[in-house]
Amino acid sequence: MQWNQWTGAMAEILKADKALERALALLEAGEVVAIPTETVYGLAGDATNGAAVGRIFEAKGRPRFNPLIAHVADLAMAERIAAFDPLSRKLAEKFWPGPLTLVLPLRPDASIHRLVTAGLDTVALRMPKGFGGELIARLGRPLAAPSANSSGKISATTAEAVAADLGQKIPLVVDGGQTPVGLESVIVKVEDSRLKLLRPGGIAADEIEAAAGVPLVRGHNAAIVAPGMLASHYAPGAAVRLNASDVREGEALLSFGPARIDAANAVALLNLSEAGDLREAAANLFSHLQALDCSGAKTIAVAPIPHRGLGEAINDRLARAAAPRDMPLP
Ligand code: TXA
Ligand code: MG
Repeated sequence: MQWNQWTGAMAEILKADKALERALALLEAGEVVAIPTETVYGLAGDATNGAAVGRIFEAKGRPRFNPLIAHVADLAMAERIAAFDPLSRKLAEKFWPGPLTLVLPLRPDASIHRLVTAGLDTVALRMPKGFGGELIARLGRPLAAPSANSSGKISATTAEAVAADLGQKIPLVVDGGQTPVGLESVIVKVEDSRLKLLRPGGIAADEIEAAAGVPLVRGHNAAIVAPGMLASHYAPGAAVRLNASDVREGEALLSFGPARIDAANAVALLNLSEAGDLREAAANLFSHLQALDCSGAKTIAVAPIPHRGLGEAINDRLARAAAPRDMPLP
């Protein structure tokens, strides 16, 4: 039974400081709730309840074999779910709560439902900041939460974007304002004492390397470890043209840094960060793509983004937005 098909209602939207009890009651009842995190909005359900996890997949229209991140309130909860090696623990202590996801061996006695891990013997864990952390602590159980968007669409960084996309499929959107980081968490995995980068994200790779004291090994993306992800993830409706140095007929422009491209032709124009600040650019990425998508432009031309710091994650998301639709990753 889908909540709003049955009631015919739109999701309730509640400010985060008034939403805790309502969110708890829905989660206890096995429902799903959209919540703010520091990265993007998450579509959360009780990770120990198979029916709740099933509702997450149903609302997103996501292929079932793509595993979800289990969100925890503290390290003790995390250690009941997964076995930590010393390097993973060091990273958790340094970056949690925050935009870091660790893939770890699943404990055989963990209460996580198998649908969360898609039957893998590993589990992705993250401790979110703010409302999510508080909610999980009160619930006393981990929350499975993918980004709160329909499968293949841009991740939502505002409650309004969540409601526009999923409002008729879920009972509650918790409004915590615009998410500060704006990109999903970085995903890493320790394997054979090497630190592998599975997905660039909200913490720059060099910051993780500095804390870990070892290099991050690239080329192991989560899509390969966790089959089912499509190249054209994070796709807006319009086509996306990368590394643009001009604006063509009918295009909108997403620029970065001080204006260098003649935008006189542009159907619409937004700048990720006029100051050329990659953190600001990350925070604006999904909402700007969405706004330009709504401008009616056939194509969004995107200025080059430097590949340092958070630029690596921004370029990863842009490459997916520009990829041919519905193509599996190579
Ligand atoms: O910031 C974030 O990470 C957001 C917020 C809501 O926490 N969540 C998020 O979840 O981005 P989602 O489901 O959109 O992405 C989860 C990623 C997927 O690429 C999935 O393949 C990978 O995590 N993943 C999950 N479990 C895994 C595992 N056991 N091994 C490898 N990759 C895994
Ligand atoms: Mg996602």
